[in-house]
Amino acid sequence: MRATLGQGARRRGEALVANDIGETLISAEAIAERVSGLGAALSDLYAGREPVIVAIMKGCVPFLADLVRAWPGPMHLEFMSAESYHGTQAGEVRLSLPTDFAHRVAGRHVLVVDDIYDTGATLTKACGAIAALEPADLRTLVLLRKRLASPPAPPADAPLREPDWVGFDIEDRFVIGYGLDYNGLYRNLPYLAALRQG
Ligand code: IMP
Ligand code: MG
Repeated sequence: MRATLGQGARRRGEALVANDIGETLISAEAIAERVSGLGAALSDLYAGREPVIVAIMKGCVPFLADLVRAWPGPMHLEFMSAESYHGTQAGEVRLSLPTDFAHRVAGRHVLVVDDIYDTGATLTKACGAIAALEPADLRTLVLLRKRLASPPAPPADAPLREPDWVGFDIEDRFVIGYGLDYNGLYRNLPYLAALRQG
């Protein structure tokens, strides 16, 4: 069945259809195994601390929900949001932080969690904003890291922040599911799939 999806896409004349969902890249079972391992390992690494997990919305929601339930130690949760993609085109990263964010991360052990590391612009910008608030320590975790065929030249003034921990390295293709979207859709797919393009 080819169900048409998305008012916006229809207005733009795009043929957005349910079979945008291409091949499965990482199954729900493989995700569950890796994420519960990460939760247990990171909880051990932060033993004796009460880290603040800063989740970058919205893509990390399913990952975050599974990660924190596999994390037995004490931790706090904070959120920021970042937007950059329009369809499959990356644009400038815009961050928004809640008003009381600064005093909740200052002096704390902060772990930033994002869904995917692509060009690195989002993680670098998020870490820059948090570093300015003077946390005791700042580390990063991403579910996915794309191995770009031709990575962009790093900006001279702000070197790219690399993730400290990665769930899965994947090849350079646009992925959907388990939080990752294409024009706002498919975040609810329980596994990771390639976007079928063309
Ligand atoms: P970066 O800033 O280029 O590293 O991209 C990071 C952000 O872009 C992620 O938080 C995602 O929201 C989005 N993104 C990058 N690649 C993909 C993809 O393949 N599918 C869906 N979203 C993506
Ligand atoms: Mg996105």
